[in-house]
Amino acid sequence: MKLPDAQVAVLETASASDPKTIEQLAEETGHKPETVTGAAFELADEGLLAVEERTETHASLTDEGAEYVEDGLPEVRLYRAALDAGAADEPVSMGRVIGASGLDGPAVDIALSNYARKGYGSIESGEITADPDADPDADAEADALEALLADREEVPATLADDVLDQLERRGLIELSERTTRSVTLTDDGVDAMMLEGVEVAETVDRLTPELLTSGEWADVEFADYNVEADAAETHGGTVHILRQTAERVKDVLVGMGFKEMRGPHADADFWINDCLFMPQDHPARTQWDRFALERPDKIKDLPEDLVARVEDAHRNGVGEDGEGYHSPWDLDFARSIALRGHTTSLSMRYLSGDADADLEPPKRYFSVEKVYRNDTLDPTHLLEFFQIEGWVLAEDLSVRDLMGTFEEFYRQFGITDLEYKPTYNPYTEPSFELFGTHPETGELVEIGNSGMFRDEVLDPLEVEADVMAWGLSLERLLMLIYGFEDIRDVHGTLCDLELLRETEVLH
Ligand code: PHE
Repeated sequence: MKLPDAQVAVLETASASDPKTIEQLAEETGHKPETVTGAAFELADEGLLAVEERTETHASLTDEGAEYVEDGLPEVRLYRAALDAGAADEPVSMGRVIGASGLDGPAVDIALSNYARKGYGSIESGEITADPDADPDADAEADALEALLADREEVPATLADDVLDQLERRGLIELSERTTRSVTLTDDGVDAMMLEGVEVAETVDRLTPELLTSGEWADVEFADYNVEADAAETHGGTVHILRQTAERVKDVLVGMGFKEMRGPHADADFWINDCLFMPQDHPARTQWDRFALERPDKIKDLPEDLVARVEDAHRNGVGEDGEGYHSPWDLDFARSIALRGHTTSLSMRYLSGDADADLEPPKRYFSVEKVYRNDTLDPTHLLEFFQIEGWVLAEDLSVRDLMGTFEEFYRQFGITDLEYKPTYNPYTEPSFELFGTHPETGELVEIGNSGMFRDEVLDPLEVEADVMAWGLSLERLLMLIYGFEDIRDVHGTLCDLELLRETEVLH
């Protein structure tokens, strides 16, 4: 009998009396487990092998479970303390027993909610009794945890299902099921091996250019495909959904007539802050808040005329009754380099003419780029995020134009319930924060900040028309579109790989 290579190897390695698992066969034949599975199913179809499937439950202790093996279950500790306090004879005050038990924090609630369920006694109006007949040394849950500590992987067959279920519900263990297949030779298989003999058939599993050009394809035997065989999962690379969303944002903005700005991630404080009429003693400019660069620590060139006009705006203000800050302004500070805390630095480079942009109104510019902030990490804040920066330069702009632009932009992502809150920025007047509603929690989420650039910003830049501008968070937009509650689901080491593999940005 002629059979493909892998099938011959499996037949020769399988035994009639000693079932072998796919893993064992894979090891003994040197074939991959998925190849062995495929071959075994083929042979089973031919009646030469029997494949038996068995599902086993595997359990592992959680950290909390492991802790209780060490310290005892909270309800058992409560019972022992209750016995010591004489609660077997008469009800004793709960406070006293809990104090004596050494339980604190959430362990107290855990003890109370399991105490009566497991027959250790009763708890009523602040008093506790202990059942003298209860036996904490025979606590099935404690025993099971103990057994699992010794043998962390496989669940011993002696553990009752209801105890396991209960432990899983309490979060003390994690259960998972695994299917193992084991293989034995059938009588026909033994006959084939012993009487008939098997040899390897030359089969071809793919058509090659050589087979086609030589004409050999007409004579060879092709291997059958077994579409039911287990195959290894493969995860090809995909574009991260944040990147996908960034691309979509760019498409939308380009569609709205915007051009893209580019510029440095690390930039002079002059572009990041001074041009924006941010006083040099502003709290956001302290060493605590910015990521300063050590090398190089100062920018080489700044446009001298612009520097002089910006300094003048800071010192003396702009316009007839303009007020400056009456605080120090230091060129050296303006030249120091830090990671940009916003991409408004790019807007300044472009609006100043430094980036050689055509500034004849009307003009629209945007960027979708990383910014860096020394924030405290939490579900909505990271040390870096993507900002959707944008500005429109035109004659006679009003807040309505700003709001209309946002409505149009966010509508393309299905977000139609924007809300606005007046806010303060040193560089815009009026200024608005933008909010959207989180689709899962219903909470208002801040998604951006915006406003009309003040004369103190535009005058030194020598921009005569109006400019409305904004910085929106790409991550928050993603949260509103997909309902993520924690930014760390999509960023960094805690991210949810499955979600990243499966979510696709739809256009
Ligand atoms: N720079 C602001 C921020 O990072 C956003 C903004 C840009 C606000 C332009 C107004 C004008 O929050």
